[in-house]
Amino acid sequence: MTEIALSKDKALSFAKSIIHWQKLYGRHNLPWQVNPTPYRIWVSEIMLQQTQATTVIPYFERFMDSFPNLKALASAPIDSVLHHWSGLGYYARARNLHKTAQVLIKEHQGKFPATPDELVQLAGIGQSTAGAICSFSLNTRGVILDGNVKRVLCRFFGISGWPGASEQRKLLWTVSDQLTPQKSHASYNQGMMDLGASCCTRTKPDCVKCPLLDECYAFNNKKVKQLPTPKPKLSRPVKEKLFLVLTKKPNQVLLLKRPPTGLWGGLWSFPEFDCIEDLHAFCKNHVLTPGKKGTFGKSLLHQFTHYTLSARPYYINGDYRLTSSTDSDSQVLWYDSTTPQKVGISTLVMKLLIHSTTDKKARNNEQADILQKI
Ligand code: ADE
Repeated sequence: MTEIALSKDKALSFAKSIIHWQKLYGRHNLPWQVNPTPYRIWVSEIMLQQTQATTVIPYFERFMDSFPNLKALASAPIDSVLHHWSGLGYYARARNLHKTAQVLIKEHQGKFPATPDELVQLAGIGQSTAGAICSFSLNTRGVILDGNVKRVLCRFFGISGWPGASEQRKLLWTVSDQLTPQKSHASYNQGMMDLGASCCTRTKPDCVKCPLLDECYAFNNKKVKQLPTPKPKLSRPVKEKLFLVLTKKPNQVLLLKRPPTGLWGGLWSFPEFDCIEDLHAFCKNHVLTPGKKGTFGKSLLHQFTHYTLSARPYYINGDYRLTSSTDSDSQVLWYDSTTPQKVGISTLVMKLLIHSTTDKKARNNEQADILQKI
């Protein structure tokens, strides 16, 4: 299918149903809907890109407490921004947020441009995010096409084929554009997101509550389970890595700062190795009184888009010191899990920290403790 015949009347009645449903059943009290400034909407939309609203809410609130406006974000250290992002994943989002805040302050007098075409020029802002920022905060019509909207449209119009493929993507953008009204676009866009999140869900759609039921292709043709067509499965290779968990005092572990770009860019992580020989060589070069044998822990699996990481911890417990040149390096940190420094760490590092306590009861207490403090 490369085209969908959509009359103006049909588009209008579709939008009307969504707007009416949104008024009655949609979400109206999400924190970013209160005082929807471009800054707050931008931050929320970036957080919501790969993450559900319920997960985002506490992150959004902490972020706004610490960085209430563009200026505060632009002048904050990147470590602090990444600290607020720890656990949300896809850390490039936080780095782009920080970079874009600085660009807006320096080159746009601290103001957001008001059209999607200008917004997409900024790092981290794609077409759909630009549409959402315009529609929700700048009162300019913006078209959106996030995962929820794609699912509603694929089912309603019977669009088959993976929605991320270029042909489907193009078609979906055209349809979304035709359906988005000139007025009330914000209620319409919020309604499409809300319908996809609450009623037209991926695994347990609640079709009887859907305002589009009568004319939905998938419902009428018993294809709700098949649409949208899933992404073709790639077999994900497994990469094995060793993570050195070296302790100073019981609660201090060695973390190194990762390079600013790439995987976990700018976050703090355990020294990572391809093999035990490399780990020993690292200890020989950087740790005073090396030589004490460590112990392997249980591997943790961590899923990335293109591969699975099997992270095997190697614990060396004791009161270790680094060579003085290593210890004074700004890329080296003794991370204290009882009073954690405000830096960014990944979920995998959090899990390894929790697992590094061998005693089970202590581990449970420590887990609660670490999660509370991070
Ligand atoms: N997902 C993406 N944007 C959203 C929004 N504005 N409200 C709820 N969920 C969303």
